[in-house]
Amino acid sequence: MLGDFTYHNPCRVHFGPNAVEKLADELSEYGDNVVLIYGGGSIKRSGLYDQVMGMLKAAGKNVVEDGGVMSNPTADKLREGACIAREADADLLLAVGGGSVIDYAKGVSVSAHCDEDPWDKYYFRMERPDNEIIPVGSILTMSGTGSEMNGGSVITNPELGLKIGHVFGPEAIPKFSIINPELTFTVPDYQMRAGIFDAFNHIQEQYFSGQDDNTSDYVSEALMKNLVKAARIAVADPRDYGARSDISWISTWALNTFVGKGKAGDWEVHMIGQAIGAVTDATHGMTLSAVAPAYYRRIMPYGMGKFVRFATEVWGVRSEGKTDEQVAREGLAAMEAWMDEIGVVRHVRDLGLEPDQYDDVVKATFLLDGGYKKLSPEDVREIPVESE
Ligand code: NZQ
Ligand code: ZN
Repeated sequence: MLGDFTYHNPCRVHFGPNAVEKLADELSEYGDNVVLIYGGGSIKRSGLYDQVMGMLKAAGKNVVEDGGVMSNPTADKLREGACIAREADADLLLAVGGGSVIDYAKGVSVSAHCDEDPWDKYYFRMERPDNEIIPVGSILTMSGTGSEMNGGSVITNPELGLKIGHVFGPEAIPKFSIINPELTFTVPDYQMRAGIFDAFNHIQEQYFSGQDDNTSDYVSEALMKNLVKAARIAVADPRDYGARSDISWISTWALNTFVGKGKAGDWEVHMIGQAIGAVTDATHGMTLSAVAPAYYRRIMPYGMGKFVRFATEVWGVRSEGKTDEQVAREGLAAMEAWMDEIGVVRHVRDLGLEPDQYDDVVKATFLLDGGYKKLSPEDVREIPVESE
């Protein structure tokens, strides 16, 4: 049974090898002042920067650049970006990059005209925006986060040891997103694998809650099965367009919040992963892969029916003559074998997390109650130990 929900996603998606050409139409809908937001330089190396800049100039835009957005964008960088956008009197923030760049652009969109400190208001206190919001458009270069079609924006405050995601409403979702899977061909292998597991875990976070047997669960299973298959192909041949295009579109769907509608969500793997990210600055998807198996083993007894279903529907585990627990454990074992096959991080030590930092992780972990079991701080403390 699905619970009540409202689904409003105002993002227009242009998908495919020629999708960047659609930028010209999109630009015509906004005023003259555009802030071009990008990361550490991959778009310059790939030639995308020149292409986009050429289109902005041809459309007669005044362009101000805000480059150097780091992975795990920081509160200080957000404050700087808010000033840049305000001084440019921006009509559009054009984010060209991965999840970090798009998340940051959303943060800037709500912060540029905010009178208070944006970290305090929108991340630490998680208030709803009540000031002018600058529209965001995106050109995605790396798949995984789903940021291109959601309101999520994750900002890290290294001084406080916190990494906090605020899910804004439709007002901060990109107005348009351009997804050309060919642009992802140059993503470093490690990042590609991290992005794949990030998307997989987004689906899991929405799947492992409730026992609903509803549309969301069926769609989630289809997306997970397709991702398992596409990931194997992409790892063997990163330039396989079929696999990369599936990964791109699955990643978007994994977190455009569609598969979470009408049901509770868990999100505790992300809370622990984000805490590890705050402490180590590790790659987001790899923080999830390091802790997910230990987490799921811990909550499995409280959601056994769904773990049996995960095993049989996603991994094809045969249930005849076995107890539920055996089937569920075989499902998690199959997941772990796939994770090893696609080469994601499985141990927190490989993220640079040291045992003397585990308490910091516990302190930075928000405990949510949408999953099968609300963890205690003691539970959280044991997860990195199991993942050493
Ligand atoms: O910075 P550049 O030079 O562009 O390089 C990036 C970066 O080093 C590189 N890259 C991206 N596209 C490339 C490329 N290199 C070559 N060719 C390309 N086409 O890849 C590196 C990682 O990029 P980043 O944007 O940091 O990765 P990702 O997309 O995984 O984003 C991670 C951030 O998103 C947040 C994470 O917490 C993290 O801060 N998340 C956002 C979510 C959301 N909005 O809903 C949900 C997620 O759970 C996640 O928390
Ligand atoms: Zn994620």
